Amino acid sequence: MKKVVTRAAIAAASIALLAGSLTACSNGSQASSSGGGGSATNAKIGLLLPDSVTARFASADRPLFTDRIKEKCPDCSVLYQNAGGDASKQQQQAQAMLTQGVKVLVLDAFDGEAAASIVSLAKSKNVPVISYDRLINSGDVSAYISFDNNKVGELQATALVDRMKDLGIADDAGVLEVNGSPTDNNASQFKAGAQSVLSTTSYDVLGEYDTPGWDPAKAQSWAAGQISKVGVDNIKGIYAANDDTAGGVISAMQAAGATDLPPITGQDATLAGLQRILAGKQYMTVYKAFKPEAEGAADLALELAAGKKASTTSTVKTASGKTVPSVILTPVAVTADNIKDTVVKDGLFTAKDICTTQLADACTKYGIK
Ligand code: GAL
Repeated sequence: MKKVVTRAAIAAASIALLAGSLTACSNGSQASSSGGGGSATNAKIGLLLPDSVTARFASADRPLFTDRIKEKCPDCSVLYQNAGGDASKQQQQAQAMLTQGVKVLVLDAFDGEAAASIVSLAKSKNVPVISYDRLINSGDVSAYISFDNNKVGELQATALVDRMKDLGIADDAGVLEVNGSPTDNNASQFKAGAQSVLSTTSYDVLGEYDTPGWDPAKAQSWAAGQISKVGVDNIKGIYAANDDTAGGVISAMQAAGATDLPPITGQDATLAGLQRILAGKQYMTVYKAFKPEAEGAADLALELAAGKKASTTSTVKTASGKTVPSVILTPVAVTADNIKDTVVKDGLFTAKDICTTQLADACTKYGIK
């Protein structure tokens, strides 16, 4: 039976959780004043991330952001919550943080449309909001920091098409398209970038899916249905919008008896994704250096908390045509050939992290040591 949880219970739970998640960075040392911000002494900074099915948020975004705040403002504190893929929960979490007196909200919106109401509430309390990684459809955000997300889709689809041509796959071969969440503004940009490339080919898109909440289990289930419909051997390429959904689709292909997997794309350079690439199960991923994104957001937050103007370098337009000051970073396509010169060189993962016993030969082949 569906358990009905009242909004009051969620609010109470959120506030209780919030109290528990208060990360006090105070260590008694003087606040450093070098670099972005730094004079926002004693500020509470809110960090709200969208889901817990995507590896990057817990393994990269949260620790990188929190560490940067601690480094630049030791007596500041970071209040953290994860929405678990629920827009109304994220709304409750934001309200609780505003009640707790945060000076800035850094918000990675589960739903970029719904989150506009969070921005309005924060504005009414003179709390600036940074739209983190995903653009909120509001002209009132103080800054947006992300990657060129159309470029992400172009890189993914270009790598897929080039690989299919290298394999001599027929020009009218069948492909599957597994996109990101329809509530994520990024996903629409990944999709637009990918389709701008796929539309120049004669490949037959056998099926297209917008994965609710980026849930890998939903991607796997949809792919299993498609495979039953079209036949596993008729799928000659798969566009998957990130590594976690790619993992779901690969599981469905293998469950259907696929031994020689077609080229499959991904994103986020997750450890699992990189290992699948070296094992020959996934063709590529897109490396978006989380460090400059998370640390850049922390620097912007400290500037705003200190009452300074955010040091943005460009602008973007929201879905409603509003102009938002932005910092846009560059994504990089990664295949087995350049793992060494990207994620290993940057220190995202070491050879020890990546090279399991089963991958020892592949790591040797690609110079990962
Ligand atoms: C996007 C993000 C990606 C992707 C996805 C999953 O907004 O830019 O890195 O992994 O969310 O949550």
